[in-house]
Amino acid sequence: MTQLREFRVNEKIAIVIGGGQRKGETIGNGRASAITYAKEGAKVIVVDNNLEAAQDTVDEINSIGGFGLAYKADVTKELEIKKMILETQKNFGRIDILHNNVGISIAGGDSEITQIDSKNFDYILSVNLKSMIFTCKYVIPIMRKQKYGNIVNISSTAVHEEYPWISYKVSKAGVNALTEQVAIQNAKYGIRANCIEPGLMNTPMAIDARVDAWNESREKIISARDSKVPLKGKMGTAWDVANAALFLASDEAQFITGITLMVDGGVHCRVGGSGKPDKH
Ligand SMILES: NC(=O)c1ccc[n+]([C@@H]2O[C@H](COP(=O)([O-])OP(=O)(O)OC[C@H]3O[C@@H](n4cnc5c(N)ncnc54)[C@H](O)[C@@H]3O)[C@@H](O)[C@H]2O)c1
Repeated sequence: MTQLREFRVNEKIAIVIGGGQRKGETIGNGRASAITYAKEGAKVIVVDNNLEAAQDTVDEINSIGGFGLAYKADVTKELEIKKMILETQKNFGRIDILHNNVGISIAGGDSEITQIDSKNFDYILSVNLKSMIFTCKYVIPIMRKQKYGNIVNISSTAVHEEYPWISYKVSKAGVNALTEQVAIQNAKYGIRANCIEPGLMNTPMAIDARVDAWNESREKIISARDSKVPLKGKMGTAWDVANAALFLASDEAQFITGITLMVDGGVHCRVGGSGKPDKH
């Protein structure tokens, strides 16, 4: 008999990389995703280079009766990634979900192409793209053996828009390409890989980072971003990203691989248009 309600990722072992969050007034994408997987029955390993931030997420998971474990690792370091993934496999016996959330832009000193500093560029690419390549390097052999696994990579609509800075944009284009490559080369093993492109979200990474970097009021930054969003004229939240991730990581999406899902309130439909009739 089917139960009235089944947990959507019940008993799955999920690793959320960057599952802590930057301090701020709202919840971040990584933390919301970790909590959402846990609410739906997954055991979640919350990985972050800021252990306190990871532990805060785990405390929230525990407070709702879920299972979380905070793990400190810097995903720009291959050996730390390797250790974290092998330990997870040893302790839990398998890895079902890899959610790659880490990503930085302004905080890494990104800039317009004529101003870009080589060190900042290398650092942003290493945090945003190389980290995802190396988590995949170590998790895929485990998933191949299991003949099962779901990878969710967090990209950005910045790939398609006239984004002001260079490193973030190209790193996220790389994330999309990485996801397709992993998807096509591992489909035969039952491993799926998909990307989410958040648009304008009301998260600390987007809002508090701009308040700090530009010394502008929070209200002004929020209203400028809200005004660009077709759907109700409001940015999305981290829960919108988390819900999309939950779907892609669950077996409900078992025939979906290699896609890039925009979670952007319709911003991408606006390409070139003003919504007003042209006068010729
Ligand atoms: N907020 C938006 O508007 C928006 C839009 C598009 C895409 N995104 C994407 O969402 C993701 C981040 O969202 P968030 O709200 O969780 O951000 P966040 O900054 O709040 O959280 C990211 C976490 O990653 C951790 N981290 C950073 N570098 C690390 C490293 N080297 N090793 C391990 N952990 C590290 C941080 O400590 C932090 O806890 C990024 O991939 C970003 O590009 C956000």
